[in-house]
Amino acid sequence: MHLIKLNNREDIMTISKQDVLEAFKFRSACRYYDPAKKISKADMDYILELARLSPSSVGSEPWKFVVLQNPVIREKIKPVTWGIKHPMDEMSHLVVILAKKNARYDSDFFRTSLEKRGLTPEQMEATLARYKSFQTDDIKVLESDRALFDWCSKQTYIALANMMTGAAMIGIDSCPIEGFNYAEVNRILAEEGLFDADEYGVSCMVTFGYRAREITKKYRKPAEDVIEWIE
Ligand SMILES: Cc1cc2nc3c(=O)[nH]c(=O)nc-3n(C[C@H](O)[C@H](O)[C@H](O)COP(=O)(O)O)c2cc1C
Repeated sequence: MHLIKLNNREDIMTISKQDVLEAFKFRSACRYYDPAKKISKADMDYILELARLSPSSVGSEPWKFVVLQNPVIREKIKPVTWGIKHPMDEMSHLVVILAKKNARYDSDFFRTSLEKRGLTPEQMEATLARYKSFQTDDIKVLESDRALFDWCSKQTYIALANMMTGAAMIGIDSCPIEGFNYAEVNRILAEEGLFDADEYGVSCMVTFGYRAREITKKYRKPAEDVIEWIE
């Protein structure tokens, strides 16, 4: 079921606010998937494209998205992944989101991510100097490996949200997953060769599929408790 109706008007696609709000209300943490319903490759490609197109601080794209469909590896992480409450084979897809480690302004990773912008050597040096000051003085992420990893991990949550919202817009369910032992999941997946543990670490996961049952009411604080306008 496609929740969003696109009106192609002079090549400008318009989506009504009501349609978007409906998608946000439809999106609920899904803990029970219908094992008989699997997401098509085209729909998963769409969801992953939303991740790839997501914004990140200074355009660093400090992430990778590992679609973990292998049943043997899924079973291996199950004992340390208490946040996935249903059997591993009920969900349609599991995406493990990795965040970059050591994404310092003076790393090859950073330089490479800047090269895609086609900067001149002078612009490159000026930009790196700006990012040095940004990472050192402003957001102070160079004080520990953890702080630097967490900064990249924060970026991945933007992609996480975009994937879930975009999925909801075409009627696909999801559940973000932080409920797991990070050290163990990192160890198992790195041992399985999914990534180089010196370069990447698991930031979070997200399950996708189609709900097997209705999801109960959404609980949210009232707007006046969480939104403040300073005029
Ligand atoms: C970053 C993050 C991690 C989460 N981890 C888990 C998890 O491991 N297992 C789970 O069942 N739900 C998890 N949730 C789902 C939340 O419990 C749920 O989003 C919240 O209660 C609000 O409900 P709603 O998503 O249905 O609106 C997580 C949510 C977020 C945003």
